[in-house]
Amino acid sequence: MSETTAILPAVTDAMALEAESVSAWFGDHKVLDRVSLAMPARMVTALIGPSGCGKSTFLRILNRMHELVPSASLAGEVRLGGDDIYDTGVKVVDARKKIGMVFQKPNPFPAMSIYDNVVAGLKLTGTRVPRTGKDDLVEECLTKAGLWLEVHDRLRRPGGALSGGQQQRLCIARSLAVRPQVLLMDEPCSALDPTSTRRIEETIHELAGEVTIVIVTHNMQQAARVSQQCAFFLAEQGQPGHIVESGPTDRMFGAPDDPRTADYVNGRFG
Ligand SMILES: Nc1ncnc2c1ncn2[C@@H]1O[C@H](COP(=O)(O)OP(=O)(O)OP(=O)(O)O)[C@@H](O)[C@H]1O
Ligand SMILES: [Mg+2]
Repeated sequence: MSETTAILPAVTDAMALEAESVSAWFGDHKVLDRVSLAMPARMVTALIGPSGCGKSTFLRILNRMHELVPSASLAGEVRLGGDDIYDTGVKVVDARKKIGMVFQKPNPFPAMSIYDNVVAGLKLTGTRVPRTGKDDLVEECLTKAGLWLEVHDRLRRPGGALSGGQQQRLCIARSLAVRPQVLLMDEPCSALDPTSTRRIEETIHELAGEVTIVIVTHNMQQAARVSQQCAFFLAEQGQPGHIVESGPTDRMFGAPDDPRTADYVNGRFG
């Protein structure tokens, strides 16, 4: 057993995520300027704003994926439950285990079985689960992802044989298997039909009680439906992206402080 091996925690322990004065660059191109945002535990925070304003970059900074880009750099702090995830003592793999990510395009391992897809993250993150606990974990995660009833009788079939919406829920189940405290979602429904989108939104609602969720979406109805907190990003005239305004979703949509927020959420630009 390697010394990085950890035993799966018994329960999920959602924590608040906080970004403080986060700036980001690709080479010498600054794309985010001093973004600060509190993403409260067990709530859904939606990131909205026009294309290119840095939402995905910000999301990748929240689980240390930004540093995978060779030219990328950043400044500022990201704290999970008060601890800086960029602290020199924190291993990247541990940060990503606590802060999972679901992408725009569902990316299950297509030839791998549904069952093996769900537990794939355990090996990658060096997390140990007793053999007898695996079946229970697979059922639990597929249930939470809203997929169990559709696949329980074909767990050995390849993940690639599922529909797009089912594949996305399989990716959510895979993320949940390592018991993250935070789940980041970058436009998770943009490649899906309305029915699958609804299904994922229901899943988000159910998960929100136990995992802190941050979701990027271009769909304002979706932001209004799924989130309790909302942050509006904007990159004006070649300037780096920044947060114009953030707060409770009701207020952001009903009575925002900034006229640019009102214009954006009402579809007048972007
Ligand atoms: N790998 C990269 N290398 C260089 N520049 C990048 C890279 N990824 C993003 N950028 C630049 O960073 C800025 C922010 O991009 P980002 O993808 O974060 O925006 P976004 O808000 O997610 O947009 P969209 O809504 O279209 O997904 C853009 O100017 C983009 O061109
Ligand atoms: Mg993006």
